[in-house]
Amino acid sequence: MPIPFARPRPVTESRADAARLQLPSRMRRNRKSEWSRQLVRENTLTVADLIWPIFVMDGSENRTQVGSMPGVERLTVDEAVREAERAAGLGIPALALFPYTDPALRTADGREALNRDNLVCRALRAIKDAVPHIGLITDVALDPYTSHGHDGLLSEDGRILNDETVAVLVEQALVQADAGADVIAPSDMMDGRVGAIRAAMDDAGHLDPQILAYSAKYASAFYGPFRDAVGSSGCLKGDKRSYQMDPANGAEAIREAALDVEEGADMLMVKPGLPYLDIIWRLKEAFGLPTFAYQVSGEYAMIEAAARNGWLDGERAMMESLMAFKRAGADGILTYFAPRVAEKLVREG
Ligand code: PBG
Repeated sequence: MPIPFARPRPVTESRADAARLQLPSRMRRNRKSEWSRQLVRENTLTVADLIWPIFVMDGSENRTQVGSMPGVERLTVDEAVREAERAAGLGIPALALFPYTDPALRTADGREALNRDNLVCRALRAIKDAVPHIGLITDVALDPYTSHGHDGLLSEDGRILNDETVAVLVEQALVQADAGADVIAPSDMMDGRVGAIRAAMDDAGHLDPQILAYSAKYASAFYGPFRDAVGSSGCLKGDKRSYQMDPANGAEAIREAALDVEEGADMLMVKPGLPYLDIIWRLKEAFGLPTFAYQVSGEYAMIEAAARNGWLDGERAMMESLMAFKRAGADGILTYFAPRVAEKLVREG
């Protein structure tokens, strides 16, 4: 149908009439007032969409600021329990735990990852004990435990060894499952780890823990503040481009995810978040599995830094960024904003 523009008017008509366009549709009608905007809104963000990543450290009754993530703190296990109680009270379904491992315990082989009494295991047990109904997600990767800051084992000539690493990751996953992890989230990007972890968990009788595969994890500059938070930035030698994905690639993410699905993943993750909304959309379309976005530390830091400088409205930017994930098809979002968003959503009903 041709769109008729202004029709000729007799000179007696007012200017408003004269300028009137004959439009078959006026998109602004549905936007004219708040009630109407609410009625036509396509996506919603709720507390049930949030996963809160927290950093745990040794000690008791203590918190330290993460310098590059204003508003985010590392918590001793007892403080983490307190925050888990707060999260449960707000209705946040799950937490993701990351350890700041004592530098003295970091070794080339990352063996602290297999210590049944390491920080993550202690946090798992303490939180499960106090807040049994909150979901606990643990990261499978060696970087918080290695002296070189890589997610895997290094060969003498500095390569990341795939199959040798997978054998250790399997042990790490079993240690976490034994300590009560509900969801095992391999973030290491080694080939074959999802299948190996699934098989070992089945053999060990761990039929319940879900596997949340970081299927499309990119070699990203946006992880910088996280490495500060877990204390691996200082020691990281080189970069992670031989295992994490090239930011230029999209189709490759589909292959990565297809393998994880075949190997037994229950849920998929895309990481970072906002720069990779197209990947979230593609994975959700292709597989239909629960698909999560990780709004990573650098994304958080950018919004927070700009907000603290008065350069943008931080609260609106936070909400807009999270809604974008829902629009892209994400089922949930790992975000450091989780408690703030939850408080806002609960407050505003
Ligand atoms: C480590 C891991 C990283 C993040 C989550 N798990 C960092 C990395 O791969 O270097 C990043 C999270 C963030 O930036 O918020 N396997």
